Amino acid sequence: MAKNITVLGTGYVGLVSSVGLADFGNTVTGVDLRTDIVDTLNGGRSTIYEIGLEEYLQRDLESGRLSFTTDGDAAIADADIVFFAVGTPPKADGHADLSQIEAAARQVAANLTGYKVVVTKSTVPVGTNRRVQNIIAEASGKTPGTHFSVVSNPEFLREGKAVQDFFHPDRIVIGYEDDRAREYMEDVYRALYLIQTPFVWCNLETAELIKYASNAFLATKITFINQMANLAEAAGADIHQIAKSMGMDGRISPKFLHPGPGYGGSCFPKDTKAVAATGDEYGVDMSVIKAVIEANDHQKVITAGKLMRLMGGSVSGRTVAVLGLAFKAETDDVRESPAIDIVQELLREGATVRAFDPEAMDNFKTAVVGEGPFGNNLNSDLQEQIAEAAASRLHYCSDEFDALTGADALIIVTEWNAFRNLDMDRAADAMSGRLIFDARNVLDPERAREKGFTYAGVGRV
Ligand code: UGA
Repeated sequence: MAKNITVLGTGYVGLVSSVGLADFGNTVTGVDLRTDIVDTLNGGRSTIYEIGLEEYLQRDLESGRLSFTTDGDAAIADADIVFFAVGTPPKADGHADLSQIEAAARQVAANLTGYKVVVTKSTVPVGTNRRVQNIIAEASGKTPGTHFSVVSNPEFLREGKAVQDFFHPDRIVIGYEDDRAREYMEDVYRALYLIQTPFVWCNLETAELIKYASNAFLATKITFINQMANLAEAAGADIHQIAKSMGMDGRISPKFLHPGPGYGGSCFPKDTKAVAATGDEYGVDMSVIKAVIEANDHQKVITAGKLMRLMGGSVSGRTVAVLGLAFKAETDDVRESPAIDIVQELLREGATVRAFDPEAMDNFKTAVVGEGPFGNNLNSDLQEQIAEAAASRLHYCSDEFDALTGADALIIVTEWNAFRNLDMDRAADAMSGRLIFDARNVLDPERAREKGFTYAGVGRV
């Protein structure tokens, strides 16, 4: 039987889940504290850029199965199931900040009108669902398993492919403790059963750690290939052939073996730090993940340094076109994007930057003057210095050729498809210099060289 679901939080995971769960035939109320967000969503406009999302949003609003509200209390009181999709940002010590999860648990306790299943979709450290269970039990005086059940249901969707991932997941992981909760979750995901999606039923702690283990492993895989690319480059080998051949081994798989300027985004940086912090808490050695965090920060330094070197050691007074500001293609998200570090470094070294991204320009404008370079905190002097330089020497351009106009060099930081097919003749006409640093290996080196460019990629000569 389709369920009455309330989703707390309308960020990436919350919005995509609300839309997806409604499309499965459930009745869904999405809750956000901000009236402007709720109004925008109820008006059929998506608050995030994600392919296909707005079409689904409009379709499900029209069906009457989806709506958004700021009234969390009423929405919880009416629900059979409450999903937590609130933020768990990192604290300074690397631990996840669980204040929003705890507030949500207290809000459920205050509105526990009948049996409800409480499902955590936010990425939370091991032990959090047990804590949620305790908070609700203590605050409401009700018994877990009888008056409510807690379920861990981590989300594995990727930004840019979120809709596709939600409807065609590799697996659904459900940590649970009692059969009634399991039956509810089977109802919620009945549409996925029909297409034979694998379901993993496990305990709460296992589900929580599956999520962290998956993200930490993928971050490790990327970091491994980045370092291997640095070595291949130094030794005169080709990382593409290396990665491809490695991927032919079924035990390795070819995915997530693309070298670049370092991983970014809202998940890998945050989750690797959280796993390391959890290891410290349990007194368990997590040195592999700690090395990954450090190596990834360093990869950004290496990328910026390589551009300086290619430009003869100084960029002062020179113009650099930066194509791609998002942390990866198909998103407007710039959180921990390597482009932030690279642009800040160029500005600090005296360059003029002409930047373009198809979607992420607005978000970048705020982030470039707000985040610290290379994983450091931005102290106020540095912040002022970067803001001043950005005001006079950072230009946001209307397209890639506008960005290339008068540039001494081009660096490609994000692998947007539009950049893969860059018209080399037009690029050569627009630029005053002939240097391309392709930090994502998206261009054909031969074609670039034929057109008279000095081309440098990552991990290949
Ligand atoms: C990641 C996971 O892939 C999702 O499964 C997970 O649900 C999500 O985090 C999350 O925890 O919410 P996402 O951050 O959207 O998804 O992006 P990815 O596609 O995984 O890329 C992350 C970073 O790694 C990007 O900066 C990307 O450019 C980089 N990357 C990825 C590489 O440098 N090389 C690769 O081969 C793959």
